[in-house]
Amino acid sequence: PTIRYTSADGDVREISATTGDSVMQTAVRNGVAGIVGECGGVLSCATCHVFVDAGDADRLPPVGELEDEMLDGTADDRRPTSRLSCQLVVSDELGDLHVTLPEAQE
Ligand code: FES
Repeated sequence: PTIRYTSADGDVREISATTGDSVMQTAVRNGVAGIVGECGGVLSCATCHVFVDAGDADRLPPVGELEDEMLDGTADDRRPTSRLSCQLVVSDELGDLHVTLPEAQE
């Protein structure tokens, strides 16, 4: 599947992702600026915050309880389409995804 990352400035990176990797891991491995993933994907940093496309949002697994709590502490304000990208696992069933990165992420 291809993951498309659009930065807050509008730069687009399209990356062919490995199934089983998270959207955060895919970004970090490929040097996508704007996704930090400081905690390594264990829901304790919220530096992997992304906005998913409204069209993709329904296909994704629902926001978990801890993810929901962490989303309240993101550097950039939470929106209805906010997700933590370490919780989004790439799979053939899910297919291609498009995420937009917040402006602030530290
Ligand atoms: Fe830390 Fe996602 S990488 S919460």
